[in-house]
Amino acid sequence: MKLKYFSHSAFQITTADNKKILIDPFLNGNPTSPVKEKDVNADFIVLTHAHGDHIGDAFNIAKRCNSLFICVDELANYCKSKGYQAHNMHIGGGYNFDFGRLKFTIAHHGSLTPDNHYGGQPAGVVLSIDGINLYHTGDTGLFLDMKLIGEMTPIDYMLLPIGDNFTMGIDDAVKAVEFVNPKIAIPMHYNTFPIIAADPYEFKKKVETLGKKSIVMDYGQEIVLS
Ligand code: NI
Ligand code: MN
Repeated sequence: MKLKYFSHSAFQITTADNKKILIDPFLNGNPTSPVKEKDVNADFIVLTHAHGDHIGDAFNIAKRCNSLFICVDELANYCKSKGYQAHNMHIGGGYNFDFGRLKFTIAHHGSLTPDNHYGGQPAGVVLSIDGINLYHTGDTGLFLDMKLIGEMTPIDYMLLPIGDNFTMGIDDAVKAVEFVNPKIAIPMHYNTFPIIAADPYEFKKKVETLGKKSIVMDYGQEIVLS
């Protein structure tokens, strides 16, 4: 399984049997993304919440690739109302897809669509694919229940925001890593805009002080997960 980072909270997972899962594909309007919507394909599109910097180009990609949306119920219904296919889920629930298992977790944030529809609760997502557990927290503040998420599913890779203002900043994110106890922490949701400027290497250093590992992914970089 491979993980590619487009910047902000946008990632693409490619499974061992070449299924492509996009998470929060904010590309065309994203000043830090090295790729545009037309360069990216997806069998599945996971949206953590409805904000424009997470829905991003999801609809154009889904139209071109006939992708299946996976979201919490209200946001899935919103996708269906626009004519797309979606699998409705909700917080705390998991489902075994043909690429692996996906479970939604709580996140503390908002979720209004760019055209002012309620997107349901914002969420994080735990993916279990090819024997690897990956937790994308979505946009969230720090919360103690993260400990439970890490207890119920030992996390290999944790993707979490460090940009502050709308989400956790660096110090709260470091505490989140302590709570979840992943093998590797990967920072996201920083430096896309001046208001979320943050130094990912300061985060990495502080995570390493805990005796834990962190990888700062370059924009456009793809890594093999093991
Ligand atoms: Ni948001
Ligand atoms: Mn955001």
